[in-house]
Amino acid sequence: MKRLVILDEFIIENQKEIPEASGDLSRLLRDIAVASKMINRDLRKAGLVEDILGEAGVVNIQGEEVKKLDQFANDIFIKYLKSGGECCGIASEEEDTFVSFHDAPQCKTAKYVVLFDPLDGSSNIDCNATVGTIFAIYKRVTPIGTSCTKDDFLQAGNKLVAAGYVIYGSSTMLVYTTGNGVNGFTLDSELGEFCLSHPNIKTPKNGKIYSVNLGGYHDFEEGVKQYLDFCQVENENKKPYSLRYIGSMVGDFHRNLLKGGIFIYPKSVKKNRGKLRLMYECNPMAFLQEQAGGLATDGEQRILDIQPTSLHQRTPVFIGSKGNVEKVIEYLK
Ligand code: AHG
Ligand code: MN
Ligand code: MN
Repeated sequence: MKRLVILDEFIIENQKEIPEASGDLSRLLRDIAVASKMINRDLRKAGLVEDILGEAGVVNIQGEEVKKLDQFANDIFIKYLKSGGECCGIASEEEDTFVSFHDAPQCKTAKYVVLFDPLDGSSNIDCNATVGTIFAIYKRVTPIGTSCTKDDFLQAGNKLVAAGYVIYGSSTMLVYTTGNGVNGFTLDSELGEFCLSHPNIKTPKNGKIYSVNLGGYHDFEEGVKQYLDFCQVENENKKPYSLRYIGSMVGDFHRNLLKGGIFIYPKSVKKNRGKLRLMYECNPMAFLQEQAGGLATDGEQRILDIQPTSLHQRTPVFIGSKGNVEKVIEYLK
């Protein structure tokens, strides 16, 4: 019987590979894991918890209806990251601007900032489909001990120190990277521990799955339409690819990360920068995807090289198996 490797042990074991690691990042990753276990616990019985489903009755800065669970997950993350003391501030899809933890004594000497999408795919939540949480960790660039500023958050993805997601699917998994490969941990809810289940994840070089909301097909640019036509008819495998799209980036991304394929959210007439957010959806997923041997582009440049100008900026995204992304780039040229 294989020995169980729990997340805490794995993080400590691997912190040796992180330059000048002093344990702070390890503690921060553990705080994220604890927050995700709290979200998981209430998510799993959301249908039974009084007044936790449905709309929160507010519209966020994205102009989207906020679900109660969006807010619930957001508050849990802020609470655990603030009490953990390892980050000096956060930015969230559900917060108009960044939130400094300068008022919390335990965060005074924190070296990191965290950006997150507390609940991704929340349109799925009321019908019990897969949702997730996505996080991105940077080292602050302003002096330790001062209140964080926007500069600490508006860093290109190529500066990421760590990134990952939690997928609340048929099982709950945490998948993350610190730049030394990608590892997946499955939550054993009796133990209450994330246990190593998918060591050193590598995405197949070519995949036969494409994930896109075909509802926007007629609004897409010509090259994207030609690539989608290629996926749907005879192609080099002499049979059409499978379309798999569940409307939750974490769910679609996780399947393709393991099986191979490509996830596309392109720009369109209505959404001229696409829909997905660079800082807490596309950058963390791009870091993971490249660490697993795949590619991530906005159609013109590597996602991780985009120099951000605003916290909630959107970007078109083509992410997945190296061969599939290279193919779509050919059509986009
Ligand atoms: P969020 O729930 O955090 O707003 O993210 C939803 C995103 C992403 O998860 C998914 O891939 C995409 O929205 C689906 O968009 P469409 O419904 O337009 O296809
Ligand atoms: Mn999202
Ligand atoms: Mn969200």
